[in-house]
Amino acid sequence: MTPRILDAEEPGDILLAARLLIAGGIVAVPTETVYGLGADAANDDAVRRVFDIKERPPSHPLILHVAGPESACAASGDWTPMAEILARRFWPGPLSILIERSGVVSDVVTGSRSTVVVRVPNHPATLELLREMHRLGSPGLAAPSANKFGAVSPTTARHVVDDLGDLVDAVLDGGPCSVGVESTIVDCRRSSATILREGGVPREDISAELGAHGFTLSGSSSPTAPSTDTSAIAPGMLVSHYAPRARVEVFEDEQDLERRSLELTTRGVPHSRLPHPDDVALYSRNLYASLRSCDSTGAQVILALLPIPHGLGAAVRDRLRKAAAAR
Ligand code: TXA
Ligand code: MG
Repeated sequence: MTPRILDAEEPGDILLAARLLIAGGIVAVPTETVYGLGADAANDDAVRRVFDIKERPPSHPLILHVAGPESACAASGDWTPMAEILARRFWPGPLSILIERSGVVSDVVTGSRSTVVVRVPNHPATLELLREMHRLGSPGLAAPSANKFGAVSPTTARHVVDDLGDLVDAVLDGGPCSVGVESTIVDCRRSSATILREGGVPREDISAELGAHGFTLSGSSSPTAPSTDTSAIAPGMLVSHYAPRARVEVFEDEQDLERRSLELTTRGVPHSRLPHPDDVALYSRNLYASLRSCDSTGAQVILALLPIPHGLGAAVRDRLRKAAAAR
């Protein structure tokens, strides 16, 4: 069975998606990063269903998607100057802000933490959907990526249908995601901000914007050595994540990748090479779709060349390394 497919270019379909959500439905929505699995943040039962569908532990909280900074501010008990600076510069866009929460956000969304992660996504249809939900009195859309826990994130409506089928009530088809990796998560609570997850807004840009306002971005929570600690501030930073079926091997050097490919060929091991465009924005945009299509060839091993760790390259490296981590 396939879920109901709604067309993001049809205003009537966007309104219908909003009404389904307010009625307690689960709707997958497009964003510029990856598709989200959305529920009305005010409806605890609907939010619980999102965890069930994803098979995700309740201790891994969800991002609250809102229409604008005012709603983000309302969800926060302490909207800091750093949050305001980054929101003003990067929203709508692939930036998520971790902040102290207010009473409007439910424990189910935040996994009973004292914080909430908020974001204004940059997709016209989803922004319209969020505005409509706001008009209908919702605090926002609680949504993780629309894939099973630990698997490759979806960047097209087709991916969502392939992964979740009719476990979702509807999918709002807004075309392929333009950025292709998840949002950057920044902890904006303290006097110096920290990046908890590399993502669509490069570290350099966040650092520059904060610096221009007299704030600093402190050292990372270690994107090169992801945490195995399940109580980490952003629990999604577990080592093994974003993983396809095939084993992923990553390389800094193209010659090493070639040698490995030759060796696997000699041994008769079916493998495929992940395309690695020089343009890192393209690498990022196609990353998850490419991992999926490598998987669909029946390859046992996927060989991937890591991009240089600048700009979006840092997020692509992070996802590839997590995909490569032993399960
Ligand atoms: O681009 C994105 O961020 C996509 C789209 C759909 O917006 N969403 C996404 O959600 O990647 P998800 O659930 O796959 O990843 C969100 C991460 C998880 O690691 C979660 O544990 C963490 O954010 N997180 C959410 N709320 C948190 C909180 N209050 N404290 C700590 N970590 C939190
Ligand atoms: Mg995810």
